[in-house]
Amino acid sequence: MSNFITSQWIHQKYGGVVPEAASRLHVEAIVELTTMALESSHLQLVDITAIAVTNGPGLIGSLLCGVSFAKSLSLSLGIPLIEVNHLHAHLLSLFIDSAPTFPMLVLTVSGGHTQLVKLDGYFDFTLIGQTIDDAAGEAFDKCGKLLNLPYPAGPSIDKLARTGKIIHRFPQAKMPGLNFSFSGLKTSVLYYLKEHLKENPEFIQQNLEDLCASIQQAIIESLGSKVEQAALEYSISHIGLVGGVAANSGLRSKLSSICTKNNWTVIFPKMTYCTDNAAMIAKVGYEKFRKGQFSDLNMPVMARLPIQ
Ligand code: KG4
Ligand code: ZN
Repeated sequence: MSNFITSQWIHQKYGGVVPEAASRLHVEAIVELTTMALESSHLQLVDITAIAVTNGPGLIGSLLCGVSFAKSLSLSLGIPLIEVNHLHAHLLSLFIDSAPTFPMLVLTVSGGHTQLVKLDGYFDFTLIGQTIDDAAGEAFDKCGKLLNLPYPAGPSIDKLARTGKIIHRFPQAKMPGLNFSFSGLKTSVLYYLKEHLKENPEFIQQNLEDLCASIQQAIIESLGSKVEQAALEYSISHIGLVGGVAANSGLRSKLSSICTKNNWTVIFPKMTYCTDNAAMIAKVGYEKFRKGQFSDLNMPVMARLPIQ
């Protein structure tokens, strides 16, 4: 009924997320945000049937804030508490608007994770590949930092790349099986820039769009080829793309063309359901509510949590 987000612009100042600052800002925002959500839905707290909350993986301080708040609501209103795995929520963000078709191969690409998951039902999934170092979003953000773009750099790179051309083929890690590796990319971008900046201190400003196009190309090529490899290996013809990087226009068109070529279908969540949002948490919460899967008030907060 509502899907409000507060973006923590303070992270731009430091070029990344400062965990302590993030948790303090959660404390400041959570009551007001909840009030806004209720008001815009014309609801009161007593109308709520259950409360779903993210419980990992994530930053411990921010999780503690959300989980403590949800526990308090659950206790005071006498309603069930439902914990939601953040990665599970990204997966089900696909089905907020679209009907599911199983089995489905889903690529999760966010700031902290890059995973290939075989989805056989809302609660039935298998991790078949993942990054061994940086996540795809992290690769966008770290390369963007080298280009002096504000954090998070993914959306700016996406926008600038649209009018750029490929000026350099950055090397892609050749990972065995279905795993990914992105940490080498930022190193090669770093050395490439250093070399050119020696001759031309204006190299970045003068070639920004082309640099973005080249970096984006390297990331989406390696994501696309692993998706294709996995779908062929597992004989899956329905593909899904989720997480913040799923908002990337280049990646969306890359997966669309792979799927058209192979006669597969592909679905993407609406843009607002790609980057972190409350609707995807509510989606998993609703499905768990229907199954009666509730959590205990003494549930611990889990910063590190595999997809379950
Ligand atoms: O899922 P998300 O909102 O948060 C995490 O769970 O990490 O993903 C955030 C990541 C950031 O790294 C951001 O740069 C990236 O998603 N991102 C994008 C785009 N929009 C967000 N990357 C590339 N292109 C975009 N349009
Ligand atoms: Zn996320």
